[in-house]
Amino acid sequence: MADIAARRGLRFHPGRYHDPTMRSPRFPAPLFVFLASVTLVFSPALRAQRVAVEAEHGMVTSAHELASRAGLEMLQRGGNAVDAAVATGLALTVVYPVAGNIGGGGFMMIHLAEGGSGQGRAGRDIAVDYRETAPAAATRDMYLGPDGQVLDGPGSSVLGWRASGVPGSVAGFALALQKYGSGKLSWADVCEPARRLAAEGHIVSQATAAGLRGAKNLAQFAESKKVYQRDGTFWKSGDRWPQPDLAATFARLQKEGPREFYEGETAKKIAAAMKTHGGLITLADLQAYRAVERTPLLGTYRNHQIVTMPPPSSGGIILLQMLAMIEPFDVAALGHNSAAKYHLFTEAMRRAFRDRAEYLADPDFAPVPVDRLLDRGYLQRRMTDFDPLKATPSSAVQPGLGPLSRSLHPTPDRTLFAAESLETTHFSVIDAAGNAVANTYTLNGGFGSGVTIPGTGILMNNEMDDFTAKVGVKNMFGLLQSAANSIAPGKRPLSAMTPTLVFKDDRLVLITGSPGGPTIINTVLQIISNVIDHHLTAAQAVEAPRIHHQWMPDVMTYERLGISADTAALLTAKGHTLKERSSYEGAYQGDGETISIDPKTNLRHGAADPRKADAKAVGY
Ligand code: GLY
Repeated sequence: MADIAARRGLRFHPGRYHDPTMRSPRFPAPLFVFLASVTLVFSPALRAQRVAVEAEHGMVTSAHELASRAGLEMLQRGGNAVDAAVATGLALTVVYPVAGNIGGGGFMMIHLAEGGSGQGRAGRDIAVDYRETAPAAATRDMYLGPDGQVLDGPGSSVLGWRASGVPGSVAGFALALQKYGSGKLSWADVCEPARRLAAEGHIVSQATAAGLRGAKNLAQFAESKKVYQRDGTFWKSGDRWPQPDLAATFARLQKEGPREFYEGETAKKIAAAMKTHGGLITLADLQAYRAVERTPLLGTYRNHQIVTMPPPSSGGIILLQMLAMIEPFDVAALGHNSAAKYHLFTEAMRRAFRDRAEYLADPDFAPVPVDRLLDRGYLQRRMTDFDPLKATPSSAVQPGLGPLSRSLHPTPDRTLFAAESLETTHFSVIDAAGNAVANTYTLNGGFGSGVTIPGTGILMNNEMDDFTAKVGVKNMFGLLQSAANSIAPGKRPLSAMTPTLVFKDDRLVLITGSPGGPTIINTVLQIISNVIDHHLTAAQAVEAPRIHHQWMPDVMTYERLGISADTAALLTAKGHTLKERSSYEGAYQGDGETISIDPKTNLRHGAADPRKADAKAVGY
């Protein structure tokens, strides 16, 4: 119990309970009052409620303290939130290699406090899409064997040299910095904390060491063993771990600029290694890669404005769909963690994820009916068959705008090598002027494809698995997706990443997001509802237990000890199938690195998620 309490940031104090066998103290009244007031201030029991880190000016919260500090360093040198975000993202490559990366891609939501909106709100919002792209040699059926079955193991969309899309992180960070950075810090400046951490080494944490011990994919590739092991054993907790090749890569990027990754020595090393080992990415693919800006999606929820990520992420659309579906209900009155609330949320989740499976994809390659999917009338009609007493079987839920796909009936689960991890990582940043960043990026599975490019320290993604390898066959997250998301050269695979900004009365109040594959969207939904419906603080909203449902499989998962036995019984009686998250898929859901801004005091509250041992909010 003490262990669980500690993990959740709570302290277990056996001494705080009244023991009737103890004699009452006989103190003079004034002394008693004095002691009582000292107790009120210093009692560990009264400090047991976890609170967010508070700061007046700037705040960074990420999955690793050293990366948060890299961002803080930029803020304190006069940089803005974008400068800090880029430094944090680059530093995570070194200290959080399970998901932090320059070998993957992601999405950045930026809020500029000044700058003319035209959006009816002070400031301006920008969505930077630096999702990976399929290489030019990629084909629709590239992951099918001669028998027409989806391949597993090396050569598949999950493991090894053929699993990677063209990385977008360096291009995305460079675009953000160049267009929206303060201008006071250079590209070389924001790369420096990452270079330094790689060159000097950092102390391996218990969580990193545990992740490495479980990284069966890394153990399959010689260069990964060279980087992630010492003398044939993965780096251990307490070791100082230098990454000289990665330091040299950052030094090249500092000297030559970000295009070096796509055109210089780094690009040549990636292309050469790919050619040697049967990978698809060529120099031409790297030279052609561009991060792009997209128009953010705007929605509302109970007088709050929600600004979130458009396709090729499904995150924003599905989040806004679910918020619209639950808004007519008095969620606060249903009660936090109640069976009634979880029933409502699950029914919204299964309907929204049904639409995700059918319609969502890279909008540059497939028409995505965004406006129709977000139409309020449509979303109300979607819930007309909601029964407060009974679960709707997922098999009975149709895509709301009519079917596109031949068949999304699931086949039996594939046994996938990287299925043990729901990685990706999210960080949130705000500066003194109120500029803010919500950034989610990923290698896809934990430690991506397992491949490190020789001589660079760059770990590559296995993002190709986010495409539809074959209609009707689940990907590593158990997701069914349609032909709209099938593989094509230059196309971006559908994502669930949901970096999100929440405004009230035109003022930014929340910056949030999470890792976790498809669970990302439901984690963000619950954090936002916790704040708006249940009036929880940022720390409470992030810490509260979470559930997940994704249409197929027709199962509601919950975190270990996250639902009481009576609540589970009530949900089962309504017809839900429940499953406690196991360590196989992570006993906990997400890592909601979140910042809230108090509209009255303007104080920033950084809530690092207690589910991640190394996560830390730092501010000044
Ligand atoms: N790779 C996980 C996602 O983009 O949703």
